[in-house]
Amino acid sequence: PVAPDLAGRHVVISAGGTREPLDPVRYLGNRSSGKQGYALARTAVARGARVTLVEANTGLPDPSGADIVRVGTAVQLREAVLKAAADADVVVMAAAVADFRPAEYVTGKIKKKDGQEPAPLTLVRNPDILAEVAADRAAPGQIVVGFAAETDNVLANGRVKLLRKGCDLLVVNEVGERKTFGSEENEAVVLAADGGETPVPYGPKEALADTVWDLVSARLG
Ligand code: C5P
Repeated sequence: PVAPDLAGRHVVISAGGTREPLDPVRYLGNRSSGKQGYALARTAVARGARVTLVEANTGLPDPSGADIVRVGTAVQLREAVLKAAADADVVVMAAAVADFRPAEYVTGKIKKKDGQEPAPLTLVRNPDILAEVAADRAAPGQIVVGFAAETDNVLANGRVKLLRKGCDLLVVNEVGERKTFGSEENEAVVLAADGGETPVPYGPKEALADTVWDLVSARLG
C-alpha cells in the first residue's frame, strides 16, 4: 500500500516526443519512448493524484485512472499543457519537445526532381514550454519539474539548466548506450532549486518516478 500523499492534487505530466511535420507523410522526431512519463503517471495515480497525461506519439497503452490528452507537435503540446496547468498543483515536463520545427509545412508531398539538389530545410524555434510554465505559474505554490538529458558535465550543466528554466526540480539523466531512451530503467540525479541533490541509482523508471513524487510532496504546501 502506498501513502496517498498526492490525494486532492492535480498533476500534469507530459510524455513522449513531439513530431514536427514537413509534409503530409514526413516529420522531424526524436527517440523518446514516453516510458518515464507513463511511469510518473502510474505512480501519481497510485499516490492519489488526479492526473492529466499529455501524450505525444508514444503508442503506449493508456495508464488507468489518468485523463489522457493526445497531441502531435510542440505547439499542440504547449497548448494542452498550459490549459491543464491552469488548475494544477504540479507540472512535470517529461516529454522530449523538439527545439525546432520546419518553418513551412508543405501541403503536398515533397517530390524529388531528377538532377536537382534537395531544397535546404529551414527551421524555426519552438517555444520553451517548461520555461514558460515556470515563469507564469498558475498559482504561487505550483511545483514545476523538468527533465534534462546530458552527455557530459552532467551536474554542472544541470545546475545551469535548472536556473535557466526556472523550475523547482530538474531530473538530470546521463545519456549513453544502454541508458534512458526506450529502456525500462533509468539512472538520474534530481537537482532542486533550493540546492538539494538526490541521486537515483540505476533501476526501474517507477523508482525514479517515486523519488520525484517524494521530492514534490515535500515541497507542496
Ligand atoms: O533545453 P532542454 O531541451 O534540454 O530541456 C529539457 C526540458 O525542457 C524537458 O523537461 C522538456 O520537456 C522541456 N522542454 C520544453 N520545451 C522545449 C524544449 C524542452 O518544455 N521547447
